[in-house]
Amino acid sequence: MGVFEAIGSDTHEEVLYGHDPVSGLKTIIAIHSTALGPALGGTRFFPYATEGAALRDALRLAKGMSYKSAAAGIDLGGGKAVIIGDPRTVKSERLLRAYGRVIDSLGGRYITAEDVGATTQDMITIASETRWVTGLPDTYGGSGDPSPATARGVVGAIRTVATRLWDSDDLAGLTVAVQGVGKVGSSLVERLTKAGAKTVVCDVNDEALQRVSSEHGSVVVGTNEIFDVESDIFAPCAMGGAINEETVERLRCRAVVGSANNQLETESMADRLVARGILYAPDFIVNAGGIINIADELNGYDWRRAAAAVDQIGDNLRKVFDKADERSVTSNVAAIEVAKDRINAIGSLKVKRRGHES
Ligand SMILES: NC(=O)c1ccc[n+]([C@@H]2O[C@H](COP(=O)([O-])OP(=O)(O)OC[C@H]3O[C@@H](n4cnc5c(N)ncnc54)[C@H](O)[C@@H]3O)[C@@H](O)[C@H]2O)c1
Repeated sequence: MGVFEAIGSDTHEEVLYGHDPVSGLKTIIAIHSTALGPALGGTRFFPYATEGAALRDALRLAKGMSYKSAAAGIDLGGGKAVIIGDPRTVKSERLLRAYGRVIDSLGGRYITAEDVGATTQDMITIASETRWVTGLPDTYGGSGDPSPATARGVVGAIRTVATRLWDSDDLAGLTVAVQGVGKVGSSLVERLTKAGAKTVVCDVNDEALQRVSSEHGSVVVGTNEIFDVESDIFAPCAMGGAINEETVERLRCRAVVGSANNQLETESMADRLVARGILYAPDFIVNAGGIINIADELNGYDWRRAAAAVDQIGDNLRKVFDKADERSVTSNVAAIEVAKDRINAIGSLKVKRRGHES
């Protein structure tokens, strides 16, 4: 597939291909929008089967970041980078520094952070070649691991959903089925347990599963069984596509609220959830805690300020539900509209201002 064909009807501003033959670096940086500010999004280091698959992932994820930041009220655009290869075998200091130089060549239009296959240590290495890196450890003036902030935001979103469905944001006695107890999922389980909720968990990683279950008393089920668990809320916190043709008919919950990106395998899944009477909290509204936390780093990190901003997520979600009701559209469509409206309104204001100054 050709590059412009892959972009299709989307409006990405720029796609940059970076190569360093010495280290084997092959990277694609997709900038979807800088209308609200520099395009911020993580670096995904993954052994893509084809270069086309890597390009598609970068484009899709960059667009998602535009919407996520816009809807969260952050003045950042959306971008994403992928590095093609198995991080366990390909990663080297030379490769990461060469990658840092590619980022630097964009002069701040793209700012990176951690994503799948990348670590905080990698961010430190990249930062030796460019200042356009976030998610650095606090010893480097950064905000550290964003996962606790993401989990905090998910809890806020669950409270909004509980208020909507049961007229109370008290989580005591609710049952939440959590798919994936990694960095976000485990922090979510801890917070839910403290709030008096019961949790049912699954993971492909037995060690993570046993730790969470012994620390928080979660009920453990198999990775395929999680979709059949009778619960109040299903929280996908593993990989994308949890809600698909097969699983959507199996769910036995009242709402889907989790941290995973791209939970709906296709947009039509939003309609299928409505048809089943299941309330869907759009993923990019719910999981914005990480980016909100990271965005704060750009101003000199203050965790109280960041936490206060993360605590707005519940309210952002409520507004999305209200808009969906008003417009008789799915919550997913309403969330995209909220994001696009802000990109248009504030983005055009910035252009106007630049025009005035020049
Ligand atoms: N970390 C953040 O701040 C953040 C922010 C926004 C979105 N997200 C998204 O949230 C999700 C979780 O992120 P994370 O940082 O906790 O990642 P993670 O890698 O720490 O955790 C993911 C967990 O899911 C498990 N898993 C993988 N496949 C599974 C399956 N089929 N069934 C059950 N469990 C499975 C993994 O073993 C792992 O324990 C991802 O989709 C990520 O993109 C994370």
